[in-house]
Amino acid sequence: MPRYPEHLTGEGPINPFPGIKVLERRLGQKIPHQLGSNEGLDMPHQALRAHFGDALAEHVYGYGDAEALGVRQRLSAQQGIPLEHLLVDAGADSLIALAVRTTCEPGVTVIATAGTYPTFGYFAKGAGCRLVEPAYHEAPGVLAPDLEALAAAAHRENARLVYLANPDNPSGHLHSDRAILELREALPDTCWLLLDEAYSDFRDDAPSEFTAKALPGVIRLRTLSKAHGLAGLRIGYAIAEPTVLAMMMKVRIHYAVSTLTLAAAEVVLDHSDEVRQHIKDVKARREQLSRHFHALGADVLPSATNFVGIRLPSADVAGAVHQQLLEEGVLVARLAHPALSNVIRITAVADALVPGRLATLEQAIQAPS
Ligand SMILES: Cc1ncc(COP(=O)(O)O)c(C=O)c1O
Repeated sequence: MPRYPEHLTGEGPINPFPGIKVLERRLGQKIPHQLGSNEGLDMPHQALRAHFGDALAEHVYGYGDAEALGVRQRLSAQQGIPLEHLLVDAGADSLIALAVRTTCEPGVTVIATAGTYPTFGYFAKGAGCRLVEPAYHEAPGVLAPDLEALAAAAHRENARLVYLANPDNPSGHLHSDRAILELREALPDTCWLLLDEAYSDFRDDAPSEFTAKALPGVIRLRTLSKAHGLAGLRIGYAIAEPTVLAMMMKVRIHYAVSTLTLAAAEVVLDHSDEVRQHIKDVKARREQLSRHFHALGADVLPSATNFVGIRLPSADVAGAVHQQLLEEGVLVARLAHPALSNVIRITAVADALVPGRLATLEQAIQAPS
């Protein structure tokens, strides 16, 4: 079994404020007279109402549902994930931090690919963990987290946790469900797999029997920041076995997801046709961008996300392109990690397809080397 920090394995800590929404559910009835909590329940909110309208003001008075039941019910119904396998928090980033807090204590070793989504390493180091970073597997047309290297490092380093983004950011690479299961098999029993599926909505492969499953020893994270367009409101969810989620709930910041965010997420989830259309449009733009840069002779990385990675001949070329575009008022992503400093990442928004918008990049691709 993967390990928890010793300080969490006994009784408690016990959340002192499960919240009124949870209490009402336990009692099976509404509590109309709320005289025991100290929010500004009688604030008139004239300014807020004038600025945003009454609908917003109605959502801001009290703390949100710490169990996010409405959002979890919708996710469960739409994706077939059992309700008790879902935990909602303030975005995938927050869930990464929560997963680290739940599974690691200072001094333990964690593993992540050198150059992958850097927030994991940032949070892990901030929690006092030792970060070991195996290299990507690189080949013509391939930039992929090296699953064998991750498993080998986990054994060699007696790791507490392995982080894998699948699909990966910034490469866009997707490992199959089979490969993920084999990775889980290959890891030490005592090691967690933190599987960041922030881009899972943009996968092209058909859902498998594992898509909606909590896997033993695995904490899966997803977000409503991307396919649902709610990054600014901060909401995401974890899929894991109930015992794991119970442990996460012990150390979770219980009101991290605001009432407004919960309400907005419910509205968006209730309009899944709009989400589906958005995903379809993003994928079409992603393919258009890929084709365009392929035709120019670029090393375009296959992507199962909402962006396209382009590997340039050197870090210097990528740096110059990045800087020049910035001076033109165009921000593309260039990763800070030295292992991937020759990769430019372009998000598949309509603006990226405006003719001439990325002319500087096009010229760098076509320049004789
Ligand atoms: C791999 C990965 N994980 C997590 C996140 C953060 O998502 P959220 O906005 O839900 O915190 C991102 C955002 O770019 C990401 O690329």
